[in-house]
Amino acid sequence: MSTTTKPTSTAAKKDTRIIDGLNQIVADTYALMALTHLAHWNVEGSDFFALHKAFQEQYENLFEGVDEVAEQIRSLDGYAIGGLSTLAQKAGMNEFKSPMPQKDYVAALIVAHEKAIDDLTQVRDLAGEANDLQTQDLMIKRLQWHEKTHWMLKSYLKS
Ligand SMILES: [Fe+2]
Repeated sequence: MSTTTKPTSTAAKKDTRIIDGLNQIVADTYALMALTHLAHWNVEGSDFFALHKAFQEQYENLFEGVDEVAEQIRSLDGYAIGGLSTLAQKAGMNEFKSPMPQKDYVAALIVAHEKAIDDLTQVRDLAGEANDLQTQDLMIKRLQWHEKTHWMLKSYLKS
């Protein structure tokens, strides 16, 4: 082994900034999942079927995603946060009134995805600096999904 090779996981396990950052992603993902679920339940209008189905696909992805992020925290010897009030407080995502017009759900979810994308980008870069490639890889995977979903939601709003 070269002397310049960094011991990735050992260094990352001591980096509380990464654990804190991952817990921010847990909170963001949970909050966005709850908002997407609310949109799935209450959306109405001419696009009901398409939006109801799309929102379901999204909250299912978020449910699987939050589990992966929380378990990555455990892999790094950290502890995941949980509980609705703790998650809501940390996420700091704007909740929306419901019911509201169908396009307003999409517009509100776009803003929430942008918050998640900003936080994921920060943790991706922190993990890169710490040579924690496993966390970086997971952040990239989550970013790809959020950015794709963000694009789809924005495309829906163009008329
Ligand atoms: Fe449902």
